[in-house]
Amino acid sequence: MDDHRVELGDTGDLGDGQLRYCDIGDHGVVVCRVKGEVFALEDNCSHADTPLSQGSLSGYMLTCPLHGAQFDVRDGSHGGPPAYVGVRTYPVEESETGVVIDMSAPDVDPDDGFGQPGGMFRTR
Ligand code: FES
Repeated sequence: MDDHRVELGDTGDLGDGQLRYCDIGDHGVVVCRVKGEVFALEDNCSHADTPLSQGSLSGYMLTCPLHGAQFDVRDGSHGGPPAYVGVRTYPVEESETGVVIDMSAPDVDPDDGFGQPGGMFRTR
């Protein structure tokens, strides 16, 4: 398997509207399921580096637990302040044998202002 492709195994127990932290990459990855489809995002709020896996999921919107910024799990775009840019998302393949995430080419919407990584008390 390609070095950038990460097998997560069977996520059949991940129910609709649920999310899970996976220890992959620098900040980990949040994996969630919405309307039967699995999505993967960087587990790091672009506002002030808070794990989004500790947030809440409502529909396609993942809400940061610290200040309430929201991110669309489909493309990582932010829903407004206090975040000013989105977060990375990763292509997901789901098959009968499980879920694979492609970490090589994060989906980034250049129009969403994605750029430098955030830092403590510093927004992107
Ligand atoms: S750290 Fe996420 S909204 Fe502030």
